[in-house]
This record gives sequence, C-alpha cells and structure tokens, in this order.
Amino acid sequence: MNTLQVELGTRSYPIYIGQNLLRQPDLITSHIHGKQVLIVSNETIAPLYLNKVLTSLENFETKSVILPDGEQYKNLIVLNQIFDTLLRQHFNRQTTLIALGGGVVGDMTGFAAACYQRGVNFIQIPTTLLAQVDSSVGGKTGVNHSLGKNMIGAFYQPQSVLIDTETLKTLDNRQLSAGLAEVIKYGLINDKEFFEWLEANITALLKQDSQALSFAIARSCQNKADIVAEDEKESGKRALLNLGHTFGHAIETGAGYGEYLHGEAVAIGMRLAAEFSAQLGWLDATSVSRILNLLEKAALPTEIPKELTSSQMLDLMQVDKKVIDGKIRLVLMESLGKSVVTDQFNLRDLEDFLKVSFLE
Ligand code: NAD
Ligand code: GLY
Repeated sequence: MNTLQVELGTRSYPIYIGQNLLRQPDLITSHIHGKQVLIVSNETIAPLYLNKVLTSLENFETKSVILPDGEQYKNLIVLNQIFDTLLRQHFNRQTTLIALGGGVVGDMTGFAAACYQRGVNFIQIPTTLLAQVDSSVGGKTGVNHSLGKNMIGAFYQPQSVLIDTETLKTLDNRQLSAGLAEVIKYGLINDKEFFEWLEANITALLKQDSQALSFAIARSCQNKADIVAEDEKESGKRALLNLGHTFGHAIETGAGYGEYLHGEAVAIGMRLAAEFSAQLGWLDATSVSRILNLLEKAALPTEIPKELTSSQMLDLMQVDKKVIDGKIRLVLMESLGKSVVTDQFNLRDLEDFLKVSFLE
C-alpha cells in the first residue's frame, strides 16, 4: 500500500492507494468518530461494492442511500435524497458519510456532508479512475445547475481517501479512458517527465497493468495533493487543475449533461487549449501533435462536438468560476509540461480560433 498525505494543517488527511484495500476495515473505521454512518452510492456501484464496505462497518449503525446513476442526476433535487435519509433516520452531528462511487457520488456526498447540520465528516472511496486520480482528492464538492457545471458547491475536505485499485476491474473501457484524460492533464500542467512516462506506458494503462495503474494513480494524486496544499481554495495555482475545463465544461453543459463523459469533454478541451496556445505562439507544433497523439492513443475523443456553435461555446465559457470582472481566464500551455492561468489574449482571437475550430 502507498500512503500519501494532503497537507492542510489540522485538516490534513491520508490517501491510501493499493489493491484490495476494501478488505482492510481499519483503513475505514479509524477515520470514523461517531457511531452513525451513511454510505452514499448509486444503483450501478452498490450491487458491486456496498456489501464489502458494510462488512467493515459491523460495529456501527450503518444505513445506505442509493442514488440514480448519471451526471444528469448531479443536481439539488437528487441531493435532497441524501438529506431526506439523514433526517428521517435521525442522523446526528457525529455522523460520517461515506462516498462509494465515481466523481458524481463523491461530489454530491461531499456537498451533503458540508451542508448537513452545517458540516459532518465524510470519507471518499472512489471507484472510477477519474475519481481516484482527481475528484476524491482536494475537497471540491457540489452539484450542477442547468445553466452551469459544478456551479453550486463548497470546498470541504474528507477525513481520508481510500483507493482500492481492484474496483477498476469492473469499470468499462470508455470510463477508464475518461479517467486517463485527467491523468494526462497532470503531465501537461507541470510534470513533463510524467507526460513522457505516459507516452511510453499508455498501452499498459489501457490494459489495466496493475503496476502501471498504481504508479499513474499515485503520481496523479501526489501532483494534486501538492497543488491543493499550496492553494486549497483556488485563489491562484489550483486553477491550473482546470486545464481543458473551461472548454470542457462548456461542452458538457452545451451538449447536455451525460452526453460527453467529463473526462472526454476535458480531452477535447485540452486539445483546444493546446491549439489555442499554439495559435498565440506559445506552444510549438510538435508538442501539439504529441498531445493529440497521446489523447488519441488513450482512446479519448478529440473531435469538436457538432451539437454546438462557436458562439454558444463562447457564451457557455463565460459561466466559469475563473472569470474575473467578466474576463475569461484560461489555462494555456507555455510549453509541453508547463501550463499557466492567463487572461493575456484578446477575446477576438479566442472568437476567431473557435470559429475556425468549429469549421464555421
Ligand atoms: P461517474 O461518477 O458518473 O462514474 C462513471 C460511471 O461509472 C457511472 O455510471 C458509475 O456508476 C460507474 N462506476 C463507478 N465506479 C464503477 C466501478 N468500479 N465499476 C463499474 N462501474 C462503475 O463519473 P466520474 O468520471 O467518476 O466523475 C465525473 C464527475 O466528477 C463529474 O461530475 C465531474 O464534474 C466531477 N469531478 C469533480 C472533481 C473535483 O475536484 N471534485 C474533479 C474532476 C471531476
Ligand atoms: N479538479 C479541479 C480541482 O480539484 O481543483
């Protein structure tokens, strides 16, 4: 087992990474302080893993709530199902919520924990690659609004993150690739060596080679933990983790939640970020093709969605948490493995770039 630490002073917490960790009850129970536990999962994941977690919790008063599966259910209405269960069953302030699932379950459970009685503890047990390398770490929680992705939420850190890499065995290939988009993201933000390792090992990752996967998960979590420790609430550096996301969130919202997987939209977004960086004269053509090549080898989409026009895309990009005083800020690439958060471009150039990209 590999244990990393998210360093946030008194709110620091461990990330456990390894095979069959769900069989080690202590890794969960040592982070539960009261008697009451509510496991939040969904209708796909619960039949696969709920009993395994319940077995670890025999000495607790444990209930579960099973949400419908899908990004389209990540909203305030479905979130209420968690509060209904907590209140009906008289859960108190010493309750611990456990998020058992992918990023949707993790973000919703974390937000419920942040709000219930003004804050109760929660533990992340991520079961998708995307959730294991990104969403379970760092305390961003929340739900979507029909007008904007992840627009309602809170920064709220878990007590611990338990990554059992065995759970990836039931994940389908499309979801695995979606997770690889966020893995590639770390290489592009600030870790060229990791990007080059990914170029050499992408086939092993797609085949779920356990050593390659463990390395990629740990390296991704370390990258994320370092950034979160420096800038928990995204007043600066943390915005780098949004590489590809301003374009990607616009695609997810514009195409309708669930049409593109989050990682797929981010992959298209990273392509657009790379190409716009090249157009501004920052990134060289060879690096752009290496990025496209790696995304394609990871079986990720890179084509521009046909459902959207460039002006719809630009409108949606204005609904972004990085916008300051009405000005869009983007994460762009200065070179391969070095990204920056910037507003140093003309809106007109972005508009023209989008028109060309959308073949208008
Ligand atoms: P997801 O939670 O929808 O899971 C993908 C699918 O895989 C679902 O159908 C799920 O039921 C299924 N699944 C999960 N684990 C499985 C397993 N082990 N075996 C079989 N099926 C399994 O999607 P995701 O990609 O995990 O997460 C995407 C969400 O995460 C988005 O809402 C995105 O906004 C959010 N996100 C949040 C952060 C953050 O920092 N909080 C970061 C990145 C993404
Ligand atoms: N996934 C972006 C962040 O956690 O900041």
